[in-house]
Amino acid sequence: MDNLKIFSGNANRPLAEKICEYLGIPLGDAVVGRFSDGEISVEFRENVRGMEVFVVQPTSIPANDHLMELLIMMDALRRASAASITAVVPYYAYARQDRKTAPRVPISAKLVANLLTTAGANRLLTMDLHTGQIQGFFNIPVDHLYSAPVTLDYIRRNFTGDLVMVSPDAGGVERARAFAKRLNASLAIIDKRREATAIKAMTLVGNVWGKEAIILDDMITTGATVSLAAELLIRHGARAVHACVTHPVLSPNAVSTLQSSMVQTVAVTDTIPLPPAAAQLDKIRVLSVAPLLGEAIRRIHRRDSVSSLFV
Ligand code: R5P
Repeated sequence: MDNLKIFSGNANRPLAEKICEYLGIPLGDAVVGRFSDGEISVEFRENVRGMEVFVVQPTSIPANDHLMELLIMMDALRRASAASITAVVPYYAYARQDRKTAPRVPISAKLVANLLTTAGANRLLTMDLHTGQIQGFFNIPVDHLYSAPVTLDYIRRNFTGDLVMVSPDAGGVERARAFAKRLNASLAIIDKRREATAIKAMTLVGNVWGKEAIILDDMITTGATVSLAAELLIRHGARAVHACVTHPVLSPNAVSTLQSSMVQTVAVTDTIPLPPAAAQLDKIRVLSVAPLLGEAIRRIHRRDSVSSLFV
């Protein structure tokens, strides 16, 4: 692990610490704070000249602050002569704004890509992007990891009944189909219609009668998708409903929505730290993706294959 340094912003220091533990190296010494007017201050307290540097920073809530911390950290690293900088962004914010869905709206996911590159990123390491095409917004290498090995292992260990994998919208069908195939389970799809941002209708395609349904999604924001999908599945005869979701974005009312919903358990990963109210929920299970990220970093550093992690 010569020449390799890992630093963390304030978005998810516990994840960065676990990655370092996996790799057997100390977390780099950097102080990311605030000036009296709220501007971000950054100071790296160790030499990075000629080093391969990884900065762990999901752009979780507050997304703008965490993004800005990451940009400023990379600017400092570039000016301190780091040989290469990898932005480790396990959760990529603004990913849902990936195309023009109406006249005169931005493509914010592309703007974020431009900002990361301009600030000094030579590579992006990310996980379960909302849409894989975001990789094409970058002209630097993007290593896109999947949390699937961790989630599949959790499902295998905890659910043994007659399972159906459920995609709660058209965008998630590929993921749900892959899971169904790996688990020898059946597949159901929900046709989710939104009006503005609110969910207006959900229609089930497939049979869930008497089965244990597992909703698979990339993120929970308000909790509405998981909660309404659970209701629909129970109405159609599912014996129980569980959810496995990669990024617990969890906007303020999400915890009470999940609490009162019919979903029995919600497994999330630690790409984003849980807000304290969510950590108290009996339904929540946290799966760690730190070993996956750590192994990917090891392989990038050793110039080994990353994709072979997922075969
Ligand atoms: C939508 O396309 C995403 O994959 C999620 O289903 C959605 O962002 C979840 O949001 P919420 O929890 O607010 O329904």
